[in-house]
Amino acid sequence: MTRSTTWPTDGMSYGGDYNPDQWSPETWEEDIRLMTEARVNIVTLGVFSWGNYEPEEGRFEFEWLDTVFDLLHAAGISVDLATPTAAPPIWLHQKHPEILPVTREGKRYWQGGRLGWCASTPIWRTHALRIAEVLAARYGDHPALKMWHVSNELGGGNRTCFCDESAAHFRRWLVDKYSTIDALNQAWGTAFWGHRYVDFAQVLPPRDSETVPNPGLQLDFDRFSSAALLEHFEAEAAVLRAATPHLPVTTNFMVSTRPSVADYARWAPRMDVLANDHYTIGEDPAREQELAMSADRMRGMRLGQPWLLMEHSSSAVNWQPRNRAKVPGELVRNSLSHVARGSDGALFFQWRASSAGAEQFHSAMVPHAGTRSKVWADVCELGRNLDALRDVVGTLVEPARVALLIDEEAFWAWKSGPKPVNDEPIWDTGRNLHRALFDAGVLTDVVPPWVDLDRYRLVIVPSLFLASDDTARALAEFAADGGHVVVTHLSGIVDPTNRVRTGGYPGAFKDMLGVMSEEFFPLLAGQSVTLDNGWKADGWTERLHADDAEIIASYADGDLAGHPAVTRRAIGDGAAGGSTAGTAWYVSTTLGRAALADLVDRLLAESGVAASIVVPRGVEAVRRIGDTGSFVFLLNHGADAVRIDTVAGHDLLGDRAVDRGFELAGGACAVVRE
Ligand code: GAL
Repeated sequence: MTRSTTWPTDGMSYGGDYNPDQWSPETWEEDIRLMTEARVNIVTLGVFSWGNYEPEEGRFEFEWLDTVFDLLHAAGISVDLATPTAAPPIWLHQKHPEILPVTREGKRYWQGGRLGWCASTPIWRTHALRIAEVLAARYGDHPALKMWHVSNELGGGNRTCFCDESAAHFRRWLVDKYSTIDALNQAWGTAFWGHRYVDFAQVLPPRDSETVPNPGLQLDFDRFSSAALLEHFEAEAAVLRAATPHLPVTTNFMVSTRPSVADYARWAPRMDVLANDHYTIGEDPAREQELAMSADRMRGMRLGQPWLLMEHSSSAVNWQPRNRAKVPGELVRNSLSHVARGSDGALFFQWRASSAGAEQFHSAMVPHAGTRSKVWADVCELGRNLDALRDVVGTLVEPARVALLIDEEAFWAWKSGPKPVNDEPIWDTGRNLHRALFDAGVLTDVVPPWVDLDRYRLVIVPSLFLASDDTARALAEFAADGGHVVVTHLSGIVDPTNRVRTGGYPGAFKDMLGVMSEEFFPLLAGQSVTLDNGWKADGWTERLHADDAEIIASYADGDLAGHPAVTRRAIGDGAAGGSTAGTAWYVSTTLGRAALADLVDRLLAESGVAASIVVPRGVEAVRRIGDTGSFVFLLNHGADAVRIDTVAGHDLLGDRAVDRGFELAGGACAVVRE
């Protein structure tokens, strides 16, 4: 179990976005001194610097960047060089305003932001590839250069564009996908409102109309928009790979527990190093779990390979309504949680806090206050910690026995048109189940539905609104082989064309589950129901028939009193490989937290899965294993000291031997080599 990717640093990667062009050369000297003090070993350079090294078309001022490269190299710091396409220079926008994205309403943006480009515009592509070539020619052989960082957060501003070039590109994509216009009409159900097309030339993106667009069209436009951005990535990456075949190419994803701007799980195979930007949300009462689930989602995109936390914040951000600062030690715990869950490093946005510009009030590794600060103390502590974790590099997270299926397309399909409830974020279903598992100390792989399920004992299907026949088949086979599956409300409702599967819900899974739901009964705001086993639920209920399943709990009150709410079907005898019979559970309602905890306990017991490291509640414990040993990460998110009775060895962070029963102080972390 060791990573196979070319990695940009020898040890754990540590550093952040570095924007020396915002500062004087005297500051650069100080930067290098402080980076060395903090044990930074990599910086991402030049993300937004195009206009600073090509202020006018064809006139380059690279001297400053040359100097910074040399300074970094002399200090042993690697460079992750960005292509600067996240911020086209002013002259390019003035010369070619047609590269700026157009909104659904038909408004073309103006210069002055970032990611001000449409992925379908040929002249944009020409300029983007030209600047990538210039950079590759100038810095490709520089010994400090260890990785390429294509643009920045592709889609984080230019997720969609509705211009005529995009429309033409969309139509080419549709011709490729459907071949004939009849196939498209069939897929989108254009008989509805008589929106039948006779020619691909008639198709437009879902531009603003007086009502909502066709959901099939909307979903395909989301898919296309993601594909257009990936195509842009591929074009830049091809230039870089041709010039420097030995260097890895990455781009930073924005994966959280919510829907993403792009279909990252389908992008993941195209990345040499898989990288993510993650920011905690101040208002979120379960920030640690949100972080953990996001990290589990990153790991799940390419199981068995480490990934890299490319950006997070040292403290407050500046884009939430109120920006919460991190308390002492939180920066370290956040970083180590990502590392525990498979990141081989921790990078920040950004190295030095800007004094001007749109992000002048965003935290950084060097805050406005300078080094006399809690942030700097934490930054230095994290540097020491990551250094001490040298032997963890390349090890892999212990295999999980539980999988939770997430598909971006299912989220997009849910958002593609009016639904029975239009204020229900279905992504919360998965998050709540992950939280129950997190609280139980059980590691979960958050994976796309097409992964091989054999390695798991329990598979959770949380409001997987869109599901393919392949997914339905894979789950049914998994259960027939002795696996345990739990499907929740709003799963398998539409097929990949976004058409409802008729004959009862949850269409794709009802045979496996032995149930049929005839009608949705969403609850109104403030309403709740009780089940006859005492579980409470709110939000969603269904009129369900348990045709071939045991009833675990029925609705005890409300419109559906007496009807089944939660069911379980025993499947097969385990002869096909499993030691026990498989089961397929259906949960037709949105269970409250206590009920979910109870349900998860039952599912874990039935599938024979337990926490692999038993620790007091409030402590996060994850193991990484490889040729260099076995390492247990212990993060105490609580304020009080706890006793750890199940782990012994050498704590790499504290450089001390620890026996079973050792004390972990409130807020503290340990990484124990067992
Ligand atoms: C990221 C972005 C960075 C910076 C950061 C602020 O999304 O990549 O450039 O803007 O957010 O939190």
